Amino acid sequence: MSESPSQSQPNSVLPQLPCPRFVVTENAIGEKCDVLIVGLCDDAPLSATAAALDQATGGVISRLSDQGKLSSESGESMLIPGPGGDGPMLVLLMGLGEKSKLDREAAFTSTSTAVRSLVSKPHETWVIALPESFAAADHDAIVAGALYGLEGQAIYRTKPSTYVPQTIAIAGASKAAIERGTVIGDSVNLARRLVNEPASVIYPASFAERAEALAAEVGLGCEVWDETRLAEENCRAILAVGGGSDQPPRLVILRHDGGAKGEPPIAIVGKGVTFDSGGLSIKPSDGMVDMKCDMGGAATVIGTMHALAKLGVKKNVIGLCGLAENMVSGSSYKLGDVIVTRSGKTIEILNTDAEGRVVLSDTLDVAIEQQPTAMVDLATLTGACMVALGNEVAGLMTNNQSACDAVAGAAHAEGEPVWQLPMFELYDEKVKSKVADIKNIGEGRWGGAITAAKFLENFVGDVPWVHIDIAGPAFADSPKPHRDAGATGVMVRTLIRWVENQAGA
Ligand code: BES
Ligand code: MN
Ligand code: ZN
Repeated sequence: MSESPSQSQPNSVLPQLPCPRFVVTENAIGEKCDVLIVGLCDDAPLSATAAALDQATGGVISRLSDQGKLSSESGESMLIPGPGGDGPMLVLLMGLGEKSKLDREAAFTSTSTAVRSLVSKPHETWVIALPESFAAADHDAIVAGALYGLEGQAIYRTKPSTYVPQTIAIAGASKAAIERGTVIGDSVNLARRLVNEPASVIYPASFAERAEALAAEVGLGCEVWDETRLAEENCRAILAVGGGSDQPPRLVILRHDGGAKGEPPIAIVGKGVTFDSGGLSIKPSDGMVDMKCDMGGAATVIGTMHALAKLGVKKNVIGLCGLAENMVSGSSYKLGDVIVTRSGKTIEILNTDAEGRVVLSDTLDVAIEQQPTAMVDLATLTGACMVALGNEVAGLMTNNQSACDAVAGAAHAEGEPVWQLPMFELYDEKVKSKVADIKNIGEGRWGGAITAAKFLENFVGDVPWVHIDIAGPAFADSPKPHRDAGATGVMVRTLIRWVENQAGA
């Protein structure tokens, strides 16, 4: 086993993110370890490692397969005793499905699934031989998927429910792939952890503090606007939404200067409502229960910026998080209020639960001041988007088709499902107000994801802009084989790729 210089270091901001030591090995079967993970494909001969194992175990794998007891279907797995001695003690045979479908998403998901099937027992040393089943360009996704499988929502169990291995050797992967996969996996998990933390831990000021500490650690520029600065900057919309809370709002501006000096940046903007009670238009308990997740867009910004810094992506990027807690009190913003936003446009508040777009109005205005060449915003914005697309697909809305195609292309390459919704002009009148420029809800429930996007469009100027509504996929009610319930870290991988696709080298 050779040491990788890239092993994930304990992170001072998030000391408890899973960080096994990743190393490279060239000899999967000759490595003394607790578990070896090997892939099986439907329509292909045994991989080199599986064939060697078959021989070492006197033909167990081929016999199990011949007797129809071993499935190579995607997601199916079987744990068998290994040869032991100087080899693996246990072997996890992991079904991968059809060889022709083994793309990047399969690399990530099947590794995560395999990892999750093992973490309930204290196995200390693992070897993952899956790289031989996948293209070299996707080996980083194997490492990222392994880290993804190690993180879950049970972060406050007094007895840990998952055992993080000490060492994971990746057979046949390059150190570069391990390094890159570690950064990606850590960045997605960082976003997930921020979301999974309760709102009593993550509120605007504490979110901003974490962003600052993280920025210092990875070398990002970071500016935090507190309530005084927000008032000086005329961010009355952010202040209005945060007005009902004892926790004052914040705006975080992160800067990654990876590109040429003076080159205009691209912008990533996130909704950071650290808790959404609905405000005076209060949510019923069932609708409020998961609303710590309403800063999922801002968490995606943090995860992505973290990755861009650590990967040294050659592009100037700014990341903005609009942070407020939407609460009920004597100082809450009210129905019928009119807010003069930072941009000067006026909004009539007809429902305080449509607060995300209000926070974003000022946040987007700050972003476009930097004259970005393209801008993406991420927001757990509407239940209507979940009605339209279900809870696993993000909605895309845009003022610029080629910008939208670029985001959709990156999402497709990473295997994160997205679907575009239309932005016909006929929707514009549905957010017009009788007393102000626009109102913060549409007419009735119909087309609610789109009317929310139409509202936002008022604040993006001429910047090519893509709005990603992640209300569905950001937070999961129930677990799946490849991930725990709770925060998913959705769109971090997509945005990393989207930025890299626009970078110089
Ligand atoms: N944060 C919610 C949207 C949401 C719902 C996210 C479920 C994740 C899961 C948002 O602030 C909201 O309350 N939207 C309202 C808008 C309505 C009042 C126009 C909604 O979708 O009901
Ligand atoms: Mn709301
Ligand atoms: Zn909300």
